[in-house]
Amino acid sequence: MIRNTEILKNFVVFEGLDGSGTTTQLDLLKRRLETVGIPRWCTREPTRGVVGQLIRDVLSGGVSCEPATLAYLFGADRWEHVFGADGVRAHVEAGEVVASDRYFFSSLAYQSIDVEYDIVDQINAPFPLPEILFFLDVPADVCAERISTRRNVEIFETLPYQTAVDRRYREVLQRHTGHGMQVFVLDGTEDQQKIADHIWNEITKLPIFRT
Ligand code: TYD
Repeated sequence: MIRNTEILKNFVVFEGLDGSGTTTQLDLLKRRLETVGIPRWCTREPTRGVVGQLIRDVLSGGVSCEPATLAYLFGADRWEHVFGADGVRAHVEAGEVVASDRYFFSSLAYQSIDVEYDIVDQINAPFPLPEILFFLDVPADVCAERISTRRNVEIFETLPYQTAVDRRYREVLQRHTGHGMQVFVLDGTEDQQKIADHIWNEITKLPIFRT
C-alpha cells in the first residue's frame, strides 16, 4: 500500500522519547487553547479505548505478545482513533484543533526496533499526516533520569531501547520531511514554558486563528 499523503488540517502531533515532555506540552497547549477559546480536542495514543487498554497491559508487562502483534495493535487502536465516530478526522471536520500526544511516528520509531521497518510502515500507510509535528528533542540519558522516579516502568523504558528509538526517530523525521507536513524539532531540555511559547508561536499561525 502506498502511504497516504493527505494532510489533516488543524491536526497537531507531539512526539519524543519517554520522558521528553510530550504530555506536559499537550497540557500546556490545551490550557492556552482554552484561554483563547479555540475549539479543541486534546487526545493521546495509545487511546483509552479497548485496544488501547490492551496495549497498556502489554506495555506494563502484564500481557505478553509478539512485537509484530503489538505493532498491529497500535495500528488497530490508531484506526479507531483517527477514523472512528469520535475520532481525529471527525473532530477536525467539526472545525476543532486536534492535538495528540503521539501518533504513527511513535510506531515507526518504537516498533521498527523489533519488527521489520517495512511491516510497520505498511501498517501505518493508511493514516493521514498531521499539519504540524513537534518533536521534543531530549537526549535518552536525560529522559532516563527524568523517568527514573516514576513508579510503573514500561517495557520500552530502558536506556538502550530509548537510545535506539532516538536514532530511529531522526530517520523517521527525515523520511517525512518535505511532504507538506511542518516538522519542528524543539530542544526539549529548555524551560517548559519557553518550549510552550515556541509551540504556541507556530500553532497560532494556523488559519483557524485568523477567523
Ligand atoms: P506514553 O503515553 O507516552 O507513555 P505513558 O503512558 O507512560 O506516559 O506512551 C506509552 C508508550 O507506548 C511509550 O513508551 C511509547 C509507546 N508507543 C509505541 O511504542 N508505539 C506507538 O505507536 C505509540 C503511540 C506509543
